Amino acid sequence: MAEKIIIDTDPGQDDAFAILLALASPEIELLGITTVAGNVPLSRTTENARKICELAGRTDVAIHPGCDRPMRGALVTAEHVHGKTGLDGYDLPDPAMPVSDLHGVDFLIETLRREPAGTVTLCPLGPLTNIGTALSRAPDIAGRIRRIVLMGGGFFEGGNITPAAEFNIFVDPDAATLVLGAGIEVTILPLDVTHKVLTSPERIAAIRGIGTRLGQAAAGWLEFFERFDVEKYGSQGGPLHDPNVIAWLLKPNLYDGRLCNVEIEADSELTRGMTVVDWWGVTPREKNATWIRDVDDAGFFALLTERLARLG
Ligand code: RIB
Ligand code: CA
Repeated sequence: MAEKIIIDTDPGQDDAFAILLALASPEIELLGITTVAGNVPLSRTTENARKICELAGRTDVAIHPGCDRPMRGALVTAEHVHGKTGLDGYDLPDPAMPVSDLHGVDFLIETLRREPAGTVTLCPLGPLTNIGTALSRAPDIAGRIRRIVLMGGGFFEGGNITPAAEFNIFVDPDAATLVLGAGIEVTILPLDVTHKVLTSPERIAAIRGIGTRLGQAAAGWLEFFERFDVEKYGSQGGPLHDPNVIAWLLKPNLYDGRLCNVEIEADSELTRGMTVVDWWGVTPREKNATWIRDVDDAGFFALLTERLARLG
């Protein structure tokens, strides 16, 4: 039985890999995509989601634009990482596939109320604004969500948008607080693990070697996306964040982590968006999330490359 998921996303080159991996995997039934403002404004994340689905030959996928700003404060974007379009590195034609007129938050609420309780997994890959807004507007859905598997946060690795905060959580710490406080089974793929999933010339060549237009696009995105992190971290390659969410669903044995308490700083000027992780269990606070810290990165890239080759 395929796992029913909704991907909530701010594409973003790395989001694109997550969407493509989900579309290439029969273990997953993608009920729909909700887009959110994050890496680039909502208009662009929505356009990018359409481009990615068209590239995969999946113009049937329902795309629901969600929130265009965080629950509180101004939107912060990341064009410095992803380029002005959010998908720099390979040019795709303007999309023709439709966008739903049902708002992403309404799609989340209606789908969770319609599907049997405990059967739908949410996979947020950007700021948690849509999920937080849905939980705030319809608290009853919390008990109907099977689990949430998200990319966000950082603890042993620190932050990537400030010294203390990872981008997705930084943009909307209030939404993240709502998600972690809702009593839902949450698994987090933070920078602590995604910084161990690094591109390399060999890994990019293997993806380009798929020999399809999709392989060309994917390789172009990786070459663009990694330049920022290679310069910033002095590493050999750039971390590929979001597809780890889908890879964890497909092959959880590639990963290792532990259930622990994760709290969010939402108000401090200095540490807004910080994920405070009680990894060593030094507090009595409730263990509300599984924090993933280790990965078989070779196994991840083998899975990703094999699945991308299945797409047209
Ligand atoms: O910090 C990395 C995360 O922020 C990724 O999801 C990336 O796509 C951006 O959304
Ligand atoms: Ca993202």
